[in-house]
Amino acid sequence: MKKRVYSGIRATGRLHLGNYMGAVKGMLELQDKYDCVFSVVDLHTITVPYEPDTLGVSIRNIVLDYLAAGLDPKKCLLEIQSRVPQHTELAYLLSTIYPVSRLEDLPTYKDKKAQYPKYVNMGLLYYPVLMAADVLLYKGELVPVGIDQKPHLEVMREIARKFNSMFGDTFPEPVRFKTPGEYVPSLSGTGKMSKSIEGSFINLTDDLATIQKRLASAPTDSGEVGGDIPESGGVANLFSLLRLFAGKEVYSKFMQDYKDKKIRYSELKEVLANAIFKELKPFAEKRKEFEANTKLVDEVIESSNNACRQLAEETMREVREKMGL
Ligand code: TYM
Repeated sequence: MKKRVYSGIRATGRLHLGNYMGAVKGMLELQDKYDCVFSVVDLHTITVPYEPDTLGVSIRNIVLDYLAAGLDPKKCLLEIQSRVPQHTELAYLLSTIYPVSRLEDLPTYKDKKAQYPKYVNMGLLYYPVLMAADVLLYKGELVPVGIDQKPHLEVMREIARKFNSMFGDTFPEPVRFKTPGEYVPSLSGTGKMSKSIEGSFINLTDDLATIQKRLASAPTDSGEVGGDIPESGGVANLFSLLRLFAGKEVYSKFMQDYKDKKIRYSELKEVLANAIFKELKPFAEKRKEFEANTKLVDEVIESSNNACRQLAEETMREVREKMGL
């Protein structure tokens, strides 16, 4: 039997370069080799403040982004998490074997608590358990996600181990599938590229002018610093992006310019904008085609979710029986 792969993205806006490099690139690679389920994790989306009126559109947007990026419904299943109710059932069952204290200690939970001090809900604490249920529901072995998801993968593995030891061998211990872009830095100079931080991201549908504009506001230095490239900050982040998109040779040339104190950031940003746009251009074109083909997209969603529910129910039957329910 082929390995099962599972990954998901929240419906919080359009996909950005971080999602693409850290998650979607891995999905694209794996869909050719394994049985894959890729999800729009709408139940995770609602753990932070959101607009119920526009959530449906946001979910659809991620499906369109997935298709435009090259996820092929002939090779993988495209799931909408809330349409497969077994996710919440399994999450509840798994929550009964996992300590609250471990969840309270997770950095992702602490970050969200700090970000939304008035919205610290049970769903937020539950987030990693639901995420474990997502993958284990399909007995997923490989999970293409960015490096920020490492703590969640750890929880997932712990839950799988605990379940197996309590109720008998049932779940594999999923591992993260890493891509070269597992950490795409923010354009703002600090932290990672993120949907929730304006000025930090480039969307997959951005045209060249927009990419240039976004890069223009990325911080740099006087250009006369010289020596080794700094380990963090605006310049470091621009070099990381350069390495990811423009290739080794271009990277080395600008690195030498930096050392020689003759770097021109306007030139670097121009080269970088072109390299990023080269990668994104086919995406915008393909997205328009899918946007126009509503019927096809509806059919993909319908048939994928039907297939997902069947697979999920197989696991649930086994889990309920093993737990004595
Ligand atoms: P989300 O929507 O926050 O992120 C989606 C994916 O994008 C990756 N990512 C990045 N990778 C590299 N550099 C960045 N700057 C960057 N920003 C985001 C994330 O690592 C992620 O892979 N908890 C998940 C959603 C989820 C899930 C799952 C994933 C729910 N259930 C089951 C896998 C399996 C998340 O962070 O989504």
